[in-house]
Amino acid sequence: MCGIVAYLGDKPVYPILIKGLQRLEYRGYDSSGVALISDNKLHIYKKSGKVVDLDVYCQGKIPESNIGMGHTRWATHGAPNDLNAHPHVSHSKRLAIIHNGIIENYMLLKKKLEKKGYTFQTDTDTEVLLAWIEEIWNETGKPLVEALCLALTQVVGAYAIVLMSNDDPGRLIAARKSSPLVVGIGEGEYFFASDATPIIEYTNHVVYLKDEEIADISLKDGLKIRTIDNLNIEPYIQQIKWELQELEKGGYDHFMLKEIYEQPQSIADSLRGRIDKTNQLVTLGGIKELENKLLEANRIIILACGTSWHAALVGEYLIEDLARINVEVEYASEFRYRNPIIREGDVVIAISQSGETADTLAAVKLAKQKGATIFGICNVVGSSISRITDAGSYTHAGPEIGVASTKAFTAQLSVLSLLALRLGYRKGSIAESRYHTLINELRQIPDKVEIALKEDKTVEQIAKAFKDVRNFLYLGRGYNFPVALEGALKLKEISYIHAEGYPAAEMKHGPIALIDKEMPVVVLATNRSAHEKIISNIKEVSARCGKIIAIVSKGDQIISELADYVVEVPETEEPFSPIVSVIPLQLLSYHIAVLRGCNVDQPRNLAKSVTVE
Ligand code: AGP
Repeated sequence: MCGIVAYLGDKPVYPILIKGLQRLEYRGYDSSGVALISDNKLHIYKKSGKVVDLDVYCQGKIPESNIGMGHTRWATHGAPNDLNAHPHVSHSKRLAIIHNGIIENYMLLKKKLEKKGYTFQTDTDTEVLLAWIEEIWNETGKPLVEALCLALTQVVGAYAIVLMSNDDPGRLIAARKSSPLVVGIGEGEYFFASDATPIIEYTNHVVYLKDEEIADISLKDGLKIRTIDNLNIEPYIQQIKWELQELEKGGYDHFMLKEIYEQPQSIADSLRGRIDKTNQLVTLGGIKELENKLLEANRIIILACGTSWHAALVGEYLIEDLARINVEVEYASEFRYRNPIIREGDVVIAISQSGETADTLAAVKLAKQKGATIFGICNVVGSSISRITDAGSYTHAGPEIGVASTKAFTAQLSVLSLLALRLGYRKGSIAESRYHTLINELRQIPDKVEIALKEDKTVEQIAKAFKDVRNFLYLGRGYNFPVALEGALKLKEISYIHAEGYPAAEMKHGPIALIDKEMPVVVLATNRSAHEKIISNIKEVSARCGKIIAIVSKGDQIISELADYVVEVPETEEPFSPIVSVIPLQLLSYHIAVLRGCNVDQPRNLAKSVTVE
């Protein structure tokens, strides 16, 4: 939700902070700020608006310093203004903090502190957290890192924080619980960040802090990790593989377009090494421990949010169709509050690109408490959700920077396809010949997505015709019903046009009243099994002057002649049609948003990773 970056080393800190904040801006961008120590004084600069506004504000003001921290915010408590922006400074002016997360018991702490004479200048939970830490520090007289341990044992909520004090200008201290924090280890220099993007150009050696761990760095002593119970932990240093250019736009106008075009590669990477070339068997990392649990499961519950929830719906069709195992898909945010029934033998699959979505994380923790076995499908290694699952398979989509999820979605569908095939094969619920047909077809999907991308110009022309409409309807059947939902979400979140996704057959139960000549209707028409029914749906819409945009399998003349606009995609096996048919919908939403002058990569009101409820 917010972006955190900090540095301690031998380089001027400000350029590292500001570039790091620009890399993290997709996590939240309504205000930002930096704090540095120079001549044993804390210097704070913070502004509402984008990181570029902060940079302009800082010009000519920044003192020389080699230690500092920065924060880009997505407001949860307190309006996005200069005052509530981070970093926050303590009452004594000796401590500064940046924070990503929500302190749930901050009002209780605030009351305790007010009784001790504290007053507060901002509306943020972060200012209360900082005052709480300072109070414990003053009261106990312990070293700051030990006072922090004590303070955090009484804090309820999610946090990734970095602290620094002008009492000790050579030290940075960080702590995390339920919000991500990565430690970068360079040559005589150290970094803290919400993810690896601000770090990777300096070092690829990182430590992913775990919940309730504290990282204490100084140039003298290096990196020390302890738990909030003050137990020392041996740092587990990993080497990340992402290269810097993966983080750049690579010549595209927007990260979203780059990521749409990366899909042949990201799908291939998500399939890579997971289909045995000799016996065609699917081998999914992590499934071995869980396989029998999945095969014998009474029920598989898939928990997710947003686009990942749409992928979960496709997963339901795949696993029930190919492996004949009962699947239920739940919005994580609903599941966690409705006192759900979890029985022995239930297996939960958690799907999350970021691996940090608060609702999904909480729902998984609840399912785990109730005895379910948890399988994760995440895109970020070391993310919170991936670390609390019993097993899992990463999508290898690479960093997804655009707020609107695209390549992560098709990577999730690829891993779900592999999972359904593996389970179906093991259960014997897929005929041998059908299994091999599907495996061979899945291997071709990256190439078929490449072909679908070649329709970009056709889609751009369609976007020009509909960029000013006020409503859109997306219809699909079977495997393509979740794709209709996904296409509608893409359009909504980046072009701000209202759009609804619907099962095509549901039209006659009400939504058909919406159809008139102003209503463009996107129809996913690539499923062979429902071809006749889809023709009827198209005719129902045309009879009421609705404009039809049909996504058809290449060469489908019948539907092409019924539609006002047609986008052809390569024919594929029905279970994989969502991966191919979603491509024109991603492009349509992208082009309409660009034509409307919307901020495609950082749409209003949104953040890439929703790490608060
Ligand atoms: C998708 O385009 C949205 N940005 C959003 O719905 C997203 O899918 C959702 O917040 C879930 O995120 P996750 O996959 O990281 O858990």
